[in-house]
Amino acid sequence: MTYSLAPSILSFDLTSLSTVVPQMVEAGAGWIHLDVMDGQFVPPITFGDAIAKSLRLHTDAPMEAHLMTLHPDAQFKAFVEAGVGRIIFHAEATAHSHRLIQQLKGMGVQAGIAINPATPVSAIKPVLADCDLALVMTVNPGWGGQKFIESTLDKIKEIRDSSPEIDIEVDGGIDPSTIGSVIEAGANVFVVGSYLLKEPTLEKGVQKILSAFPTGKSV
Ligand code: DX5
Ligand code: ZN
Repeated sequence: MTYSLAPSILSFDLTSLSTVVPQMVEAGAGWIHLDVMDGQFVPPITFGDAIAKSLRLHTDAPMEAHLMTLHPDAQFKAFVEAGVGRIIFHAEATAHSHRLIQQLKGMGVQAGIAINPATPVSAIKPVLADCDLALVMTVNPGWGGQKFIESTLDKIKEIRDSSPEIDIEVDGGIDPSTIGSVIEAGANVFVVGSYLLKEPTLEKGVQKILSAFPTGKSV
């Protein structure tokens, strides 16, 4: 099993990303996590494919788009063209998860499916074998800095029991105090946002997360 740290840029000063993102990568992060919000699926509006296109000028690191949007497939092409290697859409946003996964695969990127804290694993079970990654929201989507929701641990275990090979990503409230429990439950990809700003340096925050990984490093 590989382990990945995917820092979320959401809580950072967006005008500083051209230097902050290379620092994240230098410190040992694996994927850069882009939280795309449309003001409809979730109340806030963040950014679209333009941010991925701009960041691509400053880093070769793989990027993933977490689409918290009502019409995720309308954005697939733009994000692929912007250089994103994985696109994660929400099961709650579509009646056609299977078709959207196939669409992403046809575009040559990894396909991820996300579920909110109130959505059961059964909503995605039929398509897990088709996905590269399942994202279990460990807070309600929309904002950084929220408290980890414990009841999500059982869902991570349920996915890991049924799909030993799939990447399981957790997103929300991940820090040194919660990472042990999500690793134990079976997660192997970790979005970390506001915690990284709490340490004196980015390097220190990344190192603390990586030291919790059984492998000690991120891919
Ligand atoms: C929330 C986003 C998260 C967020 C995580 O809707 O999907 O990626 O940035 O932030 P923290 O780590 O602060 O909970
Ligand atoms: Zn996210």
